[in-house]
Amino acid sequence: MTVTKAETEFKIPVIDVSGYLQNDKESPDSKEVVAAIRSACKDPGFFQVTGHSVPAGLRDQTLKSLHEFFALPEEVKSQIHRTDENTVGYEVVGQQKVEVGDRKEGFVFGPEPFPAQFTKVKNQWLEDSACPGFNATLQQYYDEVRKLSKSMFRLLALSLDLEETYFDEFVASQESLTMCKAHRYPPTTKEMSTQTKGIGAHSDFGALTLLLQDEIGGLEVLYEPENKWYPVQYVPDAYVVNIGDMMERWTNNRYKSTKHRVISPVSGKYRFSIGIFNEGLMHQLIECIPTCIDKGEKPLHKPILAETYLRESLAATYAVGA
Ligand code: OGA
Ligand code: NI
Repeated sequence: MTVTKAETEFKIPVIDVSGYLQNDKESPDSKEVVAAIRSACKDPGFFQVTGHSVPAGLRDQTLKSLHEFFALPEEVKSQIHRTDENTVGYEVVGQQKVEVGDRKEGFVFGPEPFPAQFTKVKNQWLEDSACPGFNATLQQYYDEVRKLSKSMFRLLALSLDLEETYFDEFVASQESLTMCKAHRYPPTTKEMSTQTKGIGAHSDFGALTLLLQDEIGGLEVLYEPENKWYPVQYVPDAYVVNIGDMMERWTNNRYKSTKHRVISPVSGKYRFSIGIFNEGLMHQLIECIPTCIDKGEKPLHKPILAETYLRESLAATYAVGA
């Protein structure tokens, strides 16, 4: 008799949110979406969203613009190279190193202007003539995905039995820190693929990330019970959404910030991705959300101001400095 091995429990759900976006929050369709979001945020902390509001044409144009930007000569891109002081712009991570994974390039920008706390940070853009349409496309993309972020936080609020608008100010005010980070990963041969990683294992430190990836693949999520990495399959039109450390802390660990990485699959092509990172509002107190604690239970974390929390996290990374 052969015993079939139990299949893994691990699954990254694909959630069509149109039932919420097109209906009243009390409608059965909305409630179904909210329940799916709640379940996905608890486990595995990652999901994919379809039926959202970001137009396909804009997504295609954004990826096309990124292809054009990263294809520019190094000396043009380095005109807007990030510095230790102004930590946004074009970046070649670990340019000096020999591993292929370190040839990953980035382009990072944030709000115009940055919140007052970030005195030295100012977006860097090339002249439009250097890469026609790039600046306008990326800015439009940023605005659209910020709108989707607001809807996603409304879904999070409903999923936590809070007022629908509970996170509105946190995610969508003038002062909210929303970062956009695009990456280009180099093509990889079979010999190279064993020694390289696009991005090493990490969790995102902000509240919620919305990532658009192309069809090449390589993003993987760690399923802790099995200590195994699973790929995030490319789903056309979908955003990959994941809970970050700040939201895990805020929800008293009800919602999970899950480790992920980018490996370098063997491919003759570059891989592109663009993420919107919702880092929130500097003066927000991140303190156990009232619906995330049972009677007699103690909060797992001390209250902390988002600004303090971000400064501590940023000291350990390189996303944006003050
Ligand atoms: C990140 C990240 C994944 C990707 O930038 O934090 O996880 O596919 N990126 O580029
Ligand atoms: Ni990440």
